[in-house]
Amino acid sequence: MKVIYLDNNATTMVAPEVLDAMLPYFSTHYGNPSSMHSFGGEVAGSIKTARENVARLIGAQPEEIVFTSCGTESDGTAIRAAIESYPDKKHIVTSRVEHPAVKNLYETLSKKGYRATFVPVDHSGRLDMDYLYDSLSDDTAIVSLMWGNNETGVIFPIEEISREVKSRGILFHTDAVQAVGKIPINIRETGVDMLSLSGHKFHSPKGIGALYIRKGTRFSPFMIGGHQEKGRRGGTENTASIIGLGKAAELAANHLKENGYERISRLRDKLEQTLLDSVPSAMINGDPANRLPNTTSVAFEYVEGEAILLMMNEHGICASSGSACTSGSLEPSHVLRAMGVPFTAAHGSIRFSLSRYNTEDEIDLILDKLPPIIERLRELSPFWKQAMGN
Ligand SMILES: Cc1ncc(COP(=O)(O)O)c(C=O)c1O
Repeated sequence: MKVIYLDNNATTMVAPEVLDAMLPYFSTHYGNPSSMHSFGGEVAGSIKTARENVARLIGAQPEEIVFTSCGTESDGTAIRAAIESYPDKKHIVTSRVEHPAVKNLYETLSKKGYRATFVPVDHSGRLDMDYLYDSLSDDTAIVSLMWGNNETGVIFPIEEISREVKSRGILFHTDAVQAVGKIPINIRETGVDMLSLSGHKFHSPKGIGALYIRKGTRFSPFMIGGHQEKGRRGGTENTASIIGLGKAAELAANHLKENGYERISRLRDKLEQTLLDSVPSAMINGDPANRLPNTTSVAFEYVEGEAILLMMNEHGICASSGSACTSGSLEPSHVLRAMGVPFTAAHGSIRFSLSRYNTEDEIDLILDKLPPIIERLRELSPFWKQAMGN
């Protein structure tokens, strides 16, 4: 059975060009980039090119890019560096809809003497800007806010927030793991101090990420060791994956330049609109005007998201649900809860996330299979029958 993969915010396929670029670094080009001999030196040259490509994708300087193992490491490194660099400041700020990479770290830090503010969002997932700005003080060590939400795709106005936060002399980090490669980013123009990205969200392998650190930003490394990455992250470089990330960044930049995401957002909009038109009591989670072009979170009221996923799976369709299995009970995700999405809708929420490899035929197949699935599940749902008055 052919797989129809619309779970690209979870992870993406490694692009064939990326794999081709990586392969020699597992076989013939296995030198250590730190070695004095030219066999290793050649690898160092390839890493330099990869760094330039990653920098170009976000409008940074190559020396502002530090390679890490993933988005989670980049987020943790940035936040820990901030609090270590400003040891007298005990207040940290983020939002209620962050990825666990930030959310759980903030919760951990709040048990270790830090005062954490989690800024709320409205029903559409838009940040409460007044709440954010009112929370800031001389005691604030860092503000960390995601650029694009992994569940709803909602984009926060990072440029505007960054300007305001910076004008108050506070360090600003953005988790741009879902935004990089999907929307144009010119970090120079934003004033952002640190930015996290992750390769497996834009067609390079899992286990490689990067942290942008603006020149002049106070920083202390999380991984202390050798002189690699100019002392900002010790450990022998994951050369093949770095080369892969560089290639993926080059491909993503070209795709953005060619407005490739217009086609993807058209497919997303077709999927979304047709579902809204054909399925009763369906709605979109998140601000439709400000979203990543590849993401939609659709709530089908009075059905279980997991049941929808299982039935779609029988047709090879891969997506994800708006619930997280926490201690045995299916809880709606913290993102949908923070937005105040009613339980009946949050439980039946499905996230579809597209990539440049999706086709219109795949969308048509989903549109053929999904509405009858919802209908069948509702026939079995006592909540639906109750809501319909029978
Ligand atoms: C917004 C966001 N931040 C951070 C991460 C973590 O990235 P990684 O899986 O590379 O650790 C993810 C992964 O889903 C994400 O969506």
